[in-house]
Amino acid sequence: MGKILVTAALPYANGRVHLGHLAGAYLPADVYVRWRRLKGDDVVFVCGSDEHGVPITLNAIKRGCSPQEVVDEYHPANGAAFAAAGVQFDIWSRTSSPEHHALSQQFFTRLHEQGFIDKREIQQLYSEQSKMFLPDRYVEGTCPRCGNTDARGDQCDACGGTYEVTELKNPRCALPGDTSKPVLKSTAHWFLLLDKFQKPLEAYVAAHGESSAAPWRLNSLRGSEGWLKMGLRARCITRDTEWGVQIPLGNEDVSGKRLYVWFDAPIGYVTFTQQLFAQRGNPGGWKDYWQNPDCPIYNFIGKDNIPFHCITWPAMQLGANGKVPPGERPYSLATNVVANEFLNFGADKFSKSKGNLIEIGWFVERFGAEALRYYLTAIAPEDNDSTFTWSDFAHRYNGELADVWGNFVHRTLTFTHKYFEGMVPEGAPAGETEAKLRAEVAAARAESAASLDGFRFKAALGRVLDAARAGNRYFDERAPWKQRKDDLAACGTTIRVCLETVAGLALALRPFLPDSSAKILGAFGLDGAAAHKAGSANQDAAALVKPGTALAQPEVPFKKIEEKDLPAEKA
Ligand code: MF3
Ligand code: ZN
Repeated sequence: MGKILVTAALPYANGRVHLGHLAGAYLPADVYVRWRRLKGDDVVFVCGSDEHGVPITLNAIKRGCSPQEVVDEYHPANGAAFAAAGVQFDIWSRTSSPEHHALSQQFFTRLHEQGFIDKREIQQLYSEQSKMFLPDRYVEGTCPRCGNTDARGDQCDACGGTYEVTELKNPRCALPGDTSKPVLKSTAHWFLLLDKFQKPLEAYVAAHGESSAAPWRLNSLRGSEGWLKMGLRARCITRDTEWGVQIPLGNEDVSGKRLYVWFDAPIGYVTFTQQLFAQRGNPGGWKDYWQNPDCPIYNFIGKDNIPFHCITWPAMQLGANGKVPPGERPYSLATNVVANEFLNFGADKFSKSKGNLIEIGWFVERFGAEALRYYLTAIAPEDNDSTFTWSDFAHRYNGELADVWGNFVHRTLTFTHKYFEGMVPEGAPAGETEAKLRAEVAAARAESAASLDGFRFKAALGRVLDAARAGNRYFDERAPWKQRKDDLAACGTTIRVCLETVAGLALALRPFLPDSSAKILGAFGLDGAAAHKAGSANQDAAALVKPGTALAQPEVPFKKIEEKDLPAEKA
């Protein structure tokens, strides 16, 4: 038990977050946070909007409004969407805050003063028609690495590669109405000398390799190893734009230039932690998480963010650590960068531009947060991309959450109310079959816990469902509706052990399905201190469900979804 810091990638405030985002970073992060809290850890969970960068300025141009208007619309909307899905950050902040600008400049200055940042005159793409430089996503073209013809200016979604905009082949301007061919023009920029961090980053990544005690997932490892193998090169960390953090170099001409969004964004994790502790009246408290070798840090991200979290951001931290301000200590690097693959929607990507995104709020209104959390965990894109379809959603929700778990809870509680006056029956001494079910529940809880500790959320949830299936089989085999007539004591045993199973599995489901689990545990009178106190993750379910305990009236936990409730499948 101890302090841990969990971050979820800061979503760009240039559109509404959708199910792809949720499955890729925010839901697994929330499940992990809930899990560690149940284990008694002191967890800080930070997130907020990434409000700088080209995605936002480009959107503003397309909509004919200011970048500020764009972020002011999406920052609260996205915060509300996460809340609707039960994702509970300790702070939901934004990178436009003055505190964040100041800290980003501090990082730049610490790096610059030590010679980790260099000024260079470079060629950039420029539009003669729009009279502006075309950074990052202002251009599209062919990926220099894999040949994808729809690559963005600084990054390719097909191969995950990042590169300088000038490396892009056949560049075309992404500004609406600008049909001019981008030309090269020279401009001054500042570069982070990543090559100076090659050795320490190799050591960092190797320390989390496959043979280490707690290896990273292969996507983060392979991605980082690939970058290191190619040899790290200096990366441009400024842009020709008016939107972003000012470059803190008073004696230089920095007009029309700002820090690159990928320089300032990860610093947001720190800023938001500082803001959180300032709000809590403990302004120095953030250091116990960021500058404490005993506090692990976990970054939850989508795979397109891997190079920035495994290479650039750790390099920035290592560089900053060479010049620690008074009263501070060195920053810790992430213990694990938990990267997910992508969740696709039918045959396509979830994509704002393609108009096939499913909004979180809209989904939750129709089917509830628990249905969403269940399905997105069940198909979590942990090792491979996975696919959301409406029919699969209905199939898994109805067939697993409703028919397996919901049904088991419902039939057990209903039977108790009908034939045992709503009280946990004493029954006869339990036999071998009962011992087997109890052992299965204990194994499920232990194995689910181990999977959660290893960031295997899909497996952790599936293991609990398997135990619920065993519960249903036991109920069917024992046939308490018959036992009741032949041997009331044996019937009592059956129901008592089923009730223990319900409680035990509801405990295990709390990180995934917080609301329904709390309701179910509430029926046992376990909604208060008993179920939530530190260490309860390992409590013996049998000890919690004492004969004679009065149970509250049951509710149908998961209503079935009917064909007519579903939107039409995308072709
Ligand atoms: N805004 C980026 C994206 O959506 C993620 C930024 S993560 C941070 O891909 F670490 F830089 F904040
Ligand atoms: Zn590519």
